[in-house]
Amino acid sequence: MIALGCDHGGYELMQEVIAYLDKNGFEYKNLGCNNTEATDYPIYAKKVARAIQSGECDKGIIICGTGIGISITANRFKGIRAALCGDCFSAEATRQHNDANVLAMGGRVTGPGLAVKIVDTFLHTEFSHGERHINRVRQMDED
Ligand code: RB5
Repeated sequence: MIALGCDHGGYELMQEVIAYLDKNGFEYKNLGCNNTEATDYPIYAKKVARAIQSGECDKGIIICGTGIGISITANRFKGIRAALCGDCFSAEATRQHNDANVLAMGGRVTGPGLAVKIVDTFLHTEFSHGERHINRVRQMDED
């Protein structure tokens, strides 16, 4: 189950992402926002982070205007590895190397055609399970 969250700056791109998820049979939980009225990205970053922490969802997609504010907020939650991606190479590498569980994008940065390819890459790429990558991901949560 994929948790979705966006602010007003990400709302329109999120509709493209939702159309892709529907077309490809992915299950998701849309945690808002639900229109282009100005709102605050931390609200939706937190909802997505908590849905993953609780185990209700195993991945997330978050979008704000730049993807920056929403990813910074999501990454404050333990166990959340949110990667801001604007290209498919990064989306693939962050799944393989960082076991990223949240994809962040900028609705005012990345066009819909590329964004959908980034989502497709992120969702279809597995963590490598290489020893060095497991070790590095573990170190992220150490003091
Ligand atoms: C909202 O105007 C904008 O600041 C927000 O969507 C995001 O880009 C913040 O990082």
